[in-house]
Amino acid sequence: MSSVAFDLNHWSAQQLARVEQALSDWVAPGGVVDDEHPAPAALREAMRYAVLDGGKRLRPLLVLAAREAVVDREPPDVAAGLDDAALRAACAAELIHAYSLVHDDMPCMDNDVLRRGKPTVHVQFGEAQALLAGDALQALAFELLTPEFDALDAAAIPPAVQATLCRQLAQAAGYQGMAGGQAIDLASIGLALTEDQLRCMHRLKTGALLQGSVMLGAACSRRCVSAAAKTALQTYGAALGLAFQVVDDILDVTADSATLGKTAGKDAAQDKPTYVSLLGLDRSQAYAQELLAQALAALDASTLPNTQALRALADMVVNRCS
Ligand code: IPE
Ligand code: IPE
Ligand code: MG
Ligand code: MG
Ligand code: MG
Repeated sequence: MSSVAFDLNHWSAQQLARVEQALSDWVAPGGVVDDEHPAPAALREAMRYAVLDGGKRLRPLLVLAAREAVVDREPPDVAAGLDDAALRAACAAELIHAYSLVHDDMPCMDNDVLRRGKPTVHVQFGEAQALLAGDALQALAFELLTPEFDALDAAAIPPAVQATLCRQLAQAAGYQGMAGGQAIDLASIGLALTEDQLRCMHRLKTGALLQGSVMLGAACSRRCVSAAAKTALQTYGAALGLAFQVVDDILDVTADSATLGKTAGKDAAQDKPTYVSLLGLDRSQAYAQELLAQALAALDASTLPNTQALRALADMVVNRCS
C-alpha cells in the first residue's frame, strides 16, 4: 500500500500516547521513598527532565512500526507479550537516545545550552547530575527490557526475546555503535574527512541506534522473520539512519534555533565535518533523497505485508523541517 493512503499523524498519535504514558510511568517515578536509601530526588528529576515532554520520538516509532511489519497470526496472549516487549523496546531505545543527547550536550562534547526547546540538562542541574542522569537512563533501558519472567503467564515476554533485545540495543549503543561514532565525531573536529569516513561516522553515531530500533521491533515476533526480510529491514534501517544524520547536518545550516529547539549553526561554529561541509547543501539534499529511495526499495524487497508506517517514517525523516 502506498504511504499516501497512510495517515502518519493519526498512527503516530496513537503510538505516542502509549509511549509517553509508559515513559512517564517508568522513568524514575516519584512515590515510595525507602528510608534506608532515600530516592535521589535531584537525579530522578534530571532523568525525567531529559526524557519527558519533548523530542520527535522517532526511535520508539520505528520500533513500533517494525513490530507492526512483522506481526504474525498470533494467539492473543502471545500477541500481548510481544506488544509489551515492543513497547518496552520502544522506551528503551528512547532512553538510550535521551542519554546520548544529555552527554552530547555537555561541555566536554558539543557544549550546547539548548535542547528540545529547554536549557540542556547540565545547564539546569549541573554537570555531575547530567553525567549521572545519562548513566542511569542507560541502565534503566536494559532494566525495562528484562521484566521478571513468570513461566505460568502466557503473556510473559519469552527470555530469548528479552536476551535478543538486550544484545541488539547494547550493540547499537556501544563502541560499535553510538558511543563509537561519538568518539569519531570528537576526534574529527577540524579535519577534512573523506566521504567514506564521514559516512562511517554518521552510520555509527546516529545510524546504529535508528537501525537498531528497527531491528528491536523486528525481534518482537513469534517466529523469527525470514532471513530475506531481516536483511531488507537492516538495509532500510541503515539507509534511514544515515539519511537522518544527513538531514540533521542540513537543518543545522538551514533551520533556526526556535524551530529546531537546539542551537542552529553549531556544526560550522565548532568546525565539525558534516555532509554540508563536504558536499554542499544541494548535493546533501539530493543524497538524502537517494537514501530515502534506497530505504523504500528495501521495504519493497522485504515482501512484508504491513510496512506503511515504516514507509511513512522514512519519508518524514528525509522531508522534515526540525
Ligand atoms: C538529535 O536527534 C540527535 C541526533 C542523533 C542527530 P533527534 O532529532 O531525533 O532529537 P529529538 O529526539 O527529536 O529531540
Ligand atoms: C549527535 O549528533 C548524535 C548523538 C549520538 C547524540 P549531533 O551532535 O549532530 O546532534 P545534535 O545536532 O546536537 O542534536
Ligand atoms: Mg555531537
Ligand atoms: Mg550535538
Ligand atoms: Mg547535529
